[in-house]
Order: sequence, then C-alpha cells, then structure tokens
Amino acid sequence: MDDENLYALIGEDGFVRLVRAFYRQVPQDDILGPMYPEHERQAAEVRLRDFLIYRFGGPQRYIEQRGHPRLRARHLPFRIDQAARDRWMQLMNSAFAEAALPSAAEQMLRSFFEQMSTFMINSAESVPSQFGT
Ligand code: HEM
Repeated sequence: MDDENLYALIGEDGFVRLVRAFYRQVPQDDILGPMYPEHERQAAEVRLRDFLIYRFGGPQRYIEQRGHPRLRARHLPFRIDQAARDRWMQLMNSAFAEAALPSAAEQMLRSFFEQMSTFMINSAESVPSQFGT
C-alpha cells in the first residue's frame, strides 16, 4: 500500500479516532503534559490530525492553514530528548490499541511515527544543569 492510499482506507474517521485517543492521554502525562498549553490542546489535536490527513492522501487543509510542515523546526521550542520521544511513541501505541485501525494502516503509520519521532529529538538526556541547558 502506498502512503496516498491510507486516507482512502481509514478515512477522516480513522485519523480522528487515533489522534483523539493520543491527545486524551496528554494532560495527565508528566513529560508531555507540561509541553502542551491547556488552551492550545484542541488546536494542537486539529494540527496533528490535519497534518496526517494531508500526508497520507487526504484533503490539504494542513498546508492551506500552516504552510510547509517544517516539523523539525517547529519542534525546536520544545526540549525533546530520548525519554520524551519514547513517551510520545508510548502514548501513540496506546492510541493504536484504542483506535483499532486495519493492520496494514497501523503498520504504515507506526513505522512513519517511529522514524519521525526519532528525527524530532533535539536535546541530549541527562545534561548537567550547571551547563545551563
Ligand atoms: C518525539 C516526540 C514529540 C513531542 C514531544 C512533540 C511535541 C509537540 C508539541 C509540544 C507541539 C505543539 C503543539 C501545537 O501547538 O501544535 C507539537 C506540534 C506538532 N507535532 Fe509534535 N511532538 C513529537 C513528535 C511528533 C511526531 C512524530 C509528529 C508527526 C509525525 C508530530 C507532529 C506534529 C505536528 C503536525 C504539530 C503541529 C505543527 C504546526 O503546524 O505548528 N510530532 N508537537
């Protein structure tokens, strides 16, 4: 299956369910919770959902509203180390369990997220605080 066919397979609803299940866990999370301001959470949910819909063959709303994704640059304001990356994947894995997408769709999204989340790492772990980081 090509990336462009994923939207045809799971539709708007598949992305809505997955991303909603992901964001539902964020507020209680000790690492990720503080990164997402509370009043922005609904908007953040729409941004991730629309990005995935655009990326996997659906309507181009994300591009119309946000322009080129530049995802790594857009994540630079957040301190993303290995632990934050792993937690993001952990929450997404629970979201997959809840959304129960067709397995071909889940596999494709999972490998995309594995790669992208590693690419988003912008900070080393355990940097001693006296070095001012
Ligand atoms: C590695 C761990 C990650 C962390 C800690 C993280 C954290 C965040 C935070 C705090 C935001 C700002 C919320 C907002 O206002 O939109 C954000 C935005 C976003 N993230 Fe992530 N993220 C991670 C990985 C990913 C991955 C793997 C993807 C997609 C494959 C992704 C896609 C997005 C998108 C599309 C936005 C909105 C960008 C925009 O248009 O401004 N993130 N992320």
